[in-house]
Amino acid sequence: MKVTPETIRAMKARGEKIAALTAYDYPMAKLLDEAGVPLLLVGDSLGMVVLGYPDTTHVTMQEIVHHVRAAARAKPNALLGADLPYRSYEDVDSALANARQLVAAGADYVKAEGGVEILPQVKGIIAADIPFCGHLGMLPQHVLEEGGYHIKGKRDAEHQKLLDDAKALADAGVFAIVLELVTPPVAKEISQAIAIPTIGIGSGPDCDGQILVTHDLTGSFPWFIPRFVKPKVNCAAEIKSAVAAWKNEIGRR
Ligand code: KIV
Repeated sequence: MKVTPETIRAMKARGEKIAALTAYDYPMAKLLDEAGVPLLLVGDSLGMVVLGYPDTTHVTMQEIVHHVRAAARAKPNALLGADLPYRSYEDVDSALANARQLVAAGADYVKAEGGVEILPQVKGIIAADIPFCGHLGMLPQHVLEEGGYHIKGKRDAEHQKLLDDAKALADAGVFAIVLELVTPPVAKEISQAIAIPTIGIGSGPDCDGQILVTHDLTGSFPWFIPRFVKPKVNCAAEIKSAVAAWKNEIGRR
């Protein structure tokens, strides 16, 4: 049965942890759906792990749309979301037009980074009946102005802003909020303070769910593995050893 934003919210109400993963194409969306993952994301992390960019600020709408179409062809039961890429939601009109494009490509929901500063865009998207997932904490699209990827919530002002942003997004009607690199006690406090699910990444065990970049979980991008990820399989090594075995085989003929 198709997962809906309501299904995801109900999982928090039942105390059931929510597993979420990135899927950028047809086979991965199909595999993760068959594995029973209820929440999928065509994240702009694809810029690094698929397209070879140094960070997510290079990803365009056209690129995200291309990957959303591919993942949506898997027709997953999972709720399939898409990131609004860098500078695609600077005002309400462009945010809504781009969110509509992602939905037309096959996304069930959209996600964008930020709190009260993007609230008009969030409200505009939700008013158009497009489910929205928030993203707070370390915001990868801000990596250039922040000079790196820093843990959030250590300072009092940061802690308070995270709480205020989470409450504002929840009040605006978002169905879930990704918390990226938020200190675990603050992530726990936010998770307890709002009724909608928090989906953590590098934010400790007390979020309502966890999301990872699938390439990190599967060891498919060995050149950089975030410190908080323990890959469950080493796909890079498996591919190299399969290729070596095949080369050896054709060499013997
Ligand atoms: O871009 C992405 O894949 C993400 C998740 C890791 C949360 O935003």
